[in-house]
Amino acid sequence: TTYLKMDAPQPRHLDETAQGVLGAPQDRPEGPLKVSGRAVYAAEHELDNMADGFLVRATISKGRVVRIDEASVKAMPGVLAVISDERFLRNPAQGGAGAAPVQGAAEVAYFGQPIAVVVAETFEQARHAARSLKVEYAVEEADVDPETASKVDTPDRRQLDQGDIAAAMGDAPHAVDVTYTTPVQSSAPMEPHASIAEWDGDRLILRGSYQMLKFNRAELADSLGISAQNVRILSPYVGGGFGSKLGIAPEAVAASIAAQELGRPVRVVMARQQVFEGTMRRSETRQRIRLAADTEGRLTALGQEDRVSNLVGESFSEPTAQATHFLYGGENRRFKQEVARVNRTCAGSVRAPGEAVGMLALECAMDELAEAAGLDPIELRKRNIPDLHPESGIQYSARSLAACLDEGARRFGWSERSPEPGQRREGEWLIGLGMATAARANVLSEAQARVTLHPDGTALVETDMTDIGTGTYAVLRQLVAEMLGLPSEKVEARLGDTDLPPGPGSGGSWGASSSGSAAFLACRGIRQMLATKLGCTADELRLQDGTATGGNLRAPLADLLTDGPMVEEGHLVPGTTAKEFSQASYGAHFAEVAVNATTGETRVRRMLGVFAAGRILNEKTARSQCQGGMVWGIGAALTEEIAHDPRDGHIVNRDLAEYHVPVNLDVPQIEVAFLDERDDAACPIQSKGIGELGISGAGAAVVNAIYNACGVRVREYPATLDKVL
Ligand code: MOS
Repeated sequence: TTYLKMDAPQPRHLDETAQGVLGAPQDRPEGPLKVSGRAVYAAEHELDNMADGFLVRATISKGRVVRIDEASVKAMPGVLAVISDERFLRNPAQGGAGAAPVQGAAEVAYFGQPIAVVVAETFEQARHAARSLKVEYAVEEADVDPETASKVDTPDRRQLDQGDIAAAMGDAPHAVDVTYTTPVQSSAPMEPHASIAEWDGDRLILRGSYQMLKFNRAELADSLGISAQNVRILSPYVGGGFGSKLGIAPEAVAASIAAQELGRPVRVVMARQQVFEGTMRRSETRQRIRLAADTEGRLTALGQEDRVSNLVGESFSEPTAQATHFLYGGENRRFKQEVARVNRTCAGSVRAPGEAVGMLALECAMDELAEAAGLDPIELRKRNIPDLHPESGIQYSARSLAACLDEGARRFGWSERSPEPGQRREGEWLIGLGMATAARANVLSEAQARVTLHPDGTALVETDMTDIGTGTYAVLRQLVAEMLGLPSEKVEARLGDTDLPPGPGSGGSWGASSSGSAAFLACRGIRQMLATKLGCTADELRLQDGTATGGNLRAPLADLLTDGPMVEEGHLVPGTTAKEFSQASYGAHFAEVAVNATTGETRVRRMLGVFAAGRILNEKTARSQCQGGMVWGIGAALTEEIAHDPRDGHIVNRDLAEYHVPVNLDVPQIEVAFLDERDDAACPIQSKGIGELGISGAGAAVVNAIYNACGVRVREYPATLDKVL
């Protein structure tokens, strides 16, 4: 094993290979399988003798299940079992690294919580029976509104008081003190949560749709009370996760228990509505932002105090101010968070937890401050990029924020924007431009990968890492191809199987850098072996077109592999570098909107994002990630909002017809550009996270553009037409 603990910035090994493969805008190798329906997703496997289960949801928001009347459905056609096992009658697990499901009794904590599964010969029979099942509850009084909840706590990790913000606000020539709200949002992945469980003696095989397999395996084992060694999870294709598949979800546990009990494979697919009510939601936020600046527009005070919500006993709380801590300077700082305990679906990580909502408020408030100070919004931001972290005093690793702002301004034609709102009109449409910063904290996660180089000049890279639509297959094979001097087509990536070396999973935007670094280390080990065979040093070795050269030595790869394939594992562990540098990916968003003067509706006309995230591993999949994030920004700005019934907290709009994610007509041409950057402190391949960067700030750019178009400052997301008029 080639092992590296990231205790120091890493020099630029990869630049020495310089095949031009890594970074190129290559297609996904699995793309044709996906678009032609040949990529088999979790629910699509047809196993012999398979039964189907359908989850039953609680129809109260707080209380206990007293009795489930199994007899009410047992005689229905095809029904095999009603299982209301305490192993999944529990509050759902907070998805995240190593979080084990909370096991408990038949307590109901929110409306829609899965409380049982009905299994039948067919899906339709199971669904019909599940909907007919009679359940008796002992109902307790619920708190469903975060604003009026009786239990509110203030987690220590979210409080900071530095200097004297009140005094600084009072003394400053320019200050804004504003409150923004963001609604509950849903991850709404295209592929619903689905699992097929099959037992082989004591060993469970789960075909599921999950993001972080090594953790999911441990969580599932824990839920079932069995050893993780006896659980294998297969997730080769995942149709989107966005955080909702970080942790094991109820359908996997239900399928596993049912399959064991019935002695046959059981499939449980969550209906679209169940995905909305029964998997993680993004918490609503109320955020008070205080900003004060001196006469030159330098921040003297910065405050972000928020209220979010979650179930009782859940440790997760939306890290609303995550980027605010490191993004801008200002000596006097105040951060505070309140977590209201409510009987709503469990709140958890949804794409860019923290930044996705925190930047919606901060970046609009910065726009407000720019106007108050009579400064261009870009100039205001550039003046407030701190030299050292304003709280910890540590240095920054590669940070091209100013360059992103400048490049974006140039490409977008920012100089044509009038700082005065309402100056541009085309018929009944008011046109405005807005911008916002993007920032997303960078995280490295432990990762292992195995690389095999075969004598025929092909290679294989294997890890349990997932590809949730992000491009992992493409990126890993490019990286190995680059390192071993092979064309990408000669490298196969095998992913999504817990029998393979444990990877970091897809979460927190760390997947490509972490698993890529593990594959890189494995390749370095192989390069060392090849150099030894050839008789040169690893530094001298050049690999290209299936030929190895070193000094004046030269040999076809096959000649160095006469003993058979070379196999090496790479193992990356985060180290002290993570604490010595403030690491983040950065960018700048620009939006042009048209606001209808009569109806108040907003149309996004064009968007540009300029990003710097260290080495770009595949220009095409990276661009797609950023475009996707920006589409989420449009949704956050204009349409996305979960509505909870004020009486019992149930989610009213729990499908894609009623929860409005942007569709084609809502999305204009989105331009994405990357600045060349290497971040030696981030990981051995100098890349940083990109999956959650594109959403950060994107919605704020749209709402700032609305203000520039029509002079209406919407502080309550989403900026629907009733608020814009
Ligand atoms: Mo992400 S919200 O860590 O999938």
